[in-house]
Amino acid sequence: MRLAISDMQAKGMPKIFITRQIPDAGIKLLKKAGYNVSIYPKDEIIPRKELRRAVKGVDALLPLLTDRIDGEVMDAAGKKLKIIANYAVGFDNVDLEAAKKRGIIVANTPAPEVSETVAEHTFALMIALAHRIAESDAYARAGKYQGWGPLLLLGVDLYGKTLGIVGLGRIGAAVAKRAVKGFGMQVVYSDPRKNPDFEKEFNARYLPLAKLLAVSDFVSLHVPLLPSTRHLISTAEFALMKKTAYLVNTARGPIVDEKALLRALRTGRVAGAGLDVFECEPAIDCDLTDKLALKKFANVVLTPHTASATIEARQAMSKLAAENIIAVLSGKKPLTPAKV
Ligand code: DGY
Repeated sequence: MRLAISDMQAKGMPKIFITRQIPDAGIKLLKKAGYNVSIYPKDEIIPRKELRRAVKGVDALLPLLTDRIDGEVMDAAGKKLKIIANYAVGFDNVDLEAAKKRGIIVANTPAPEVSETVAEHTFALMIALAHRIAESDAYARAGKYQGWGPLLLLGVDLYGKTLGIVGLGRIGAAVAKRAVKGFGMQVVYSDPRKNPDFEKEFNARYLPLAKLLAVSDFVSLHVPLLPSTRHLISTAEFALMKKTAYLVNTARGPIVDEKALLRALRTGRVAGAGLDVFECEPAIDCDLTDKLALKKFANVVLTPHTASATIEARQAMSKLAAENIIAVLSGKKPLTPAKV
């Protein structure tokens, strides 16, 4: 087979493999840098076998949060692999230890745009819960609306309430900004590190998690998924929360013990939950036969891991992933290395 000139030029160039089509900003950058870019052609999670085959000989891998990138995949790629540029803020899908052992750099995509987008989505869930938007929409569509009523679908305000932010990284801070400046809420936060500047700017209070849970009307999770944060919110934590409080999770599903959440919802231990992520994702409910599945609660609002799904955020992630690759393949440090 004869190769086109561009293919021949690309032959000696670093090879990049992207595990699924992503918005094009980063792809354009990689191509402009002269790299040989290939993308898994189907719009689905690449099967493991295909992944092992496709990564062979690549210099850089751009996977998604739905791809498990472990030592086996790294070995299948071989010695040339220098960077795994994960297309996500979270990187719990990548085995950092295995990468370190092999001298492979791991980077993520905490672009500023993503923080704003996820913060917006967090508020979308909070407002949907407080104003019963999903229930109201279903009610109206079902033709049940017969006229205005003083008690019809009563919700609660965000205004004047206390928001507990668990994890004050970029996204947690973007949520806090909206809460204080836009919605007249008080903010309390818990984090391994206190942030006096943040406290001053937003009149926010640091609290240990147990105290935060006890005083918050809304609890929003913004911690990474680590062994120490798996089931961070479980039975004991629900027991500390106000019965009128709502839980919002736009971080990672396993941070919340789903069984404990179901019990809390069933017994009225919490007022409701807004979930963008799920313990057994992509399944919404771990136990598909459970009659008390999350889907059955009217006071639960569900979105299918779309908190960062805006064009702005996904393009920024694409660009940043590419910039991380270009930096590392040019012998520089990645812009945003994955840090625990
Ligand atoms: C992330 O970037 O980690 C998000 O979960 C993607 O939506």
